[in-house]
Amino acid sequence: MTDSRDADATRLATESLAQDDPTGWFERLYVEAADGTAVVPWDAPEPNALLVDWLERHARAGGGTRAMVVGCGLGRDAEHLAELGFETTAFDVAETAIKTARERFPDSPVDYVVGDLLDPPAEWNGAFDLVVESITVQSLPVTVRDVATANVARMVAPGGDLLVIAGIAEEGAKADGPPWPLTRAEIDAFATGDLRPVEVEQASPAGKPNFVRWRAVFHRG
Ligand SMILES: C[S@@+](CC[C@H](N)C(=O)[O-])C[C@H]1O[C@@H](n2cnc3c(N)ncnc32)[C@H](O)[C@@H]1O
Repeated sequence: MTDSRDADATRLATESLAQDDPTGWFERLYVEAADGTAVVPWDAPEPNALLVDWLERHARAGGGTRAMVVGCGLGRDAEHLAELGFETTAFDVAETAIKTARERFPDSPVDYVVGDLLDPPAEWNGAFDLVVESITVQSLPVTVRDVATANVARMVAPGGDLLVIAGIAEEGAKADGPPWPLTRAEIDAFATGDLRPVEVEQASPAGKPNFVRWRAVFHRG
C-alpha cells in the first residue's frame, strides 16, 4: 500500500502500457485492492455528485427504464441508478471489479457484467434509455478513443440520453496519462448520427469549485 491514492494505479498502468496493453492494469489494480495491498483511486463511498445532481435537477427517475453504466468499477453509480428505479446494467473490463461490486451489493438488482467497451456485445446497440459514461473513455489511450466513443454512443436507444462526465483538456494539449482528459472536440464526437448534444457544460460538485469536469448530455431523437 502506498501513500498517494494514485500511486498504485500509476505503477500498474505504466507497466501495462509499456507492454502495449491499454486495459490489463485495471484488473491487476482491483486484484491488489481486493488483497488489501493497493488503493483504487476512484473508489468513493458516494455516487458521482455530478451524476446525482443532474438526475435531481432533471427529475430523472427510472420507472423501469433501462440504464447502462460504462466502466462501472465498484458499482457506486450503478447502485444509485438502481435505487432511483432504473433497470440497470453495469459493465467493466476488470473481472475483479465486477466480482467485488457483486460482493459489496449482494442484494442488488443491478446486472453486473464483465465486458469490454472496445468490443461490446451487439445486443447492447440502441438498448438503453440512459447511458452513463463517467471517466472511462479518458482512462483509455487516445489511440482507441474513437472506437471507445463510438461504442458508448451506439448504446443509446431511440429517445434515450447519454450523460458523459470527463476531465477537461485544452485543444492540442498532450497528457501523460492515464488519464487522458477530453477536449471539447472529443466531447462533441459523442454526437454521431441522430445523437445530438443537449447541454455541454463545465461543472463542479457543490463545495468543490476547483474540481471542474465536462458534463455533457446527448439525446437520440
Ligand atoms: C477511471 S475508472 C472509473 C470508474 C467509474 N466509472 C467511476 O466513475 O468511478 C475506469 C473504469 O473503466 C474500466 N475500464 C477500462 N477500460 C475498459 C474497457 N475497455 N471496457 C470496460 N471497462 C473498462 C476500468 O476497469 C475502471 O473500472
